[in-house]
Amino acid sequence: MNAAASKPAIVAVLMERSIGIGLLGAGTVGGALVRRLVGESDAIAAKTGLTFDVRRIGVNDLERERDFEVTEGLLTDDPFEVVNYPTVALVVEVMGGKDPAGDLILAALEAGKPVVTANKELIASRGPELIAAAERAGVPLLFEAAVGGGIPIIRPLSETLAGERLDRVLGIVNGTTNYILTQMAEEGASYAAALAAAQELGYAETDPTADVSGADAAAKAAILASLAFGTWVGVEDVYAEGIEDLTAVDMSFAAEFGYVVKLVAVCERTADGVSARVHPAMIPLDHPLASIRGAMNAVFIEGVAIESLLFAGPGAGGEPTATAVLGDVIDAARETLAGAQVAPRIRFSPGDLVPFADIQTRWYVRLQVDDRPGVLAQIASGFGDAGVSIRSVWQEGVDDEAALIVVTHSAPEASQREAIASLRKIDEVIEVASVIRVLGTNP
Ligand SMILES: NC(=O)c1ccc[n+]([C@@H]2O[C@H](COP(=O)([O-])OP(=O)(O)OC[C@H]3O[C@@H](n4cnc5c(N)ncnc54)[C@H](OP(=O)(O)O)[C@@H]3O)[C@@H](O)[C@H]2O)c1
Repeated sequence: MNAAASKPAIVAVLMERSIGIGLLGAGTVGGALVRRLVGESDAIAAKTGLTFDVRRIGVNDLERERDFEVTEGLLTDDPFEVVNYPTVALVVEVMGGKDPAGDLILAALEAGKPVVTANKELIASRGPELIAAAERAGVPLLFEAAVGGGIPIIRPLSETLAGERLDRVLGIVNGTTNYILTQMAEEGASYAAALAAAQELGYAETDPTADVSGADAAAKAAILASLAFGTWVGVEDVYAEGIEDLTAVDMSFAAEFGYVVKLVAVCERTADGVSARVHPAMIPLDHPLASIRGAMNAVFIEGVAIESLLFAGPGAGGEPTATAVLGDVIDAARETLAGAQVAPRIRFSPGDLVPFADIQTRWYVRLQVDDRPGVLAQIASGFGDAGVSIRSVWQEGVDDEAALIVVTHSAPEASQREAIASLRKIDEVIEVASVIRVLGTNP
């Protein structure tokens, strides 16, 4: 169907007293959304003048118990039925995953129906295609909940700050890893013990890979970078390193040197182009992100005129995420009710992506070495030969072994790696025990 032609019909459906919602997914976020739409309908109507009615909900398992009232015919296990249902005027996708969510969203947009989604994985991989489909159809595609859960960050980046020249966005965008790292830093817990605690509290899945490997944060970094810089950065362009190799020993060295270790999404624009990466990093204790503890999330934005902004709050959880989804639902309904062709909220221009190997990074390197004369000189020349200069060295000897900590100046990532490779060839180097990138300029 021609989307533009179907638009007046959708507006007519929206102008009914109650706006028909089709929900794809009724799990953590979808369930909270239904409860809110039902339980707080009067308050929503009083504040916005809009009333909503959930007409169809697509789920996997029709027999599963739901924590909202299920009326006859409300649930279906055919998600396309939700999208195509005649009185569904607005589609909310909270089922997750790339398939079939992507095709469902395209089908809704092509039918001229506004779409709200919380799906970071899908937006980070098929964003331009979906955004272009929404633009063609002249309807909104909103995804505030895709990054930072309940923290408003997509709308500030793509609308409020649309006229600002942004240079850098730093984010703690995964609550599971931030909880684990907080436990390690503050309680001296091992990675395994902190992960087990996170699982017990429901912060981490039974299979925590997507969180601890940095993959979840990489999808969010791709979205943040794309919106901040207006050049598309896909999830495949984001370098991602997880937290699995971090140790409590490095956490306590970090604290001694005035840092805290966080899993950080770093999105940057330099003269060479734009980049996005996710890795553990030492952050100076006086940086605003250093105080983001537990499962909290935060995004720190640096721009020419605004200097810096901090957005912080609950980055996940059914209730806070449902707030973000509901805000988009209200926004999409208002915009569509206005009847006009919806102007695109973001356009992407071609731009250079800086390869990770060329990114300037600073490293903290902890080595276990034989405590013999001359070893320091060999290590210094290992760094020097790779073009990396050393900012500070700290040494502590135990018997005839020593722990040696080197913090470098900025150098291209490729040079830092070359230096580490050459250190591994020095006989007196027993082990390169850990490497962690350093943000900021503390000693
Ligand atoms: N949870 C959070 O804190 C959070 C925060 C921000 C963003 N998000 C995003 O929000 C989305 C939903 O997350 P969630 O935590 O609510 O997930 P969830 O609890 O696993 O719920 C997924 C829902 O989708 C349904 N579903 C899955 N595949 C389906 C299919 N092929 N056909 C029909 N129904 C299907 C499931 O049905 P059944 O109930 O029958 O199994 C379930 O109701 C994801 O994109 C996630 O990344 C979540």
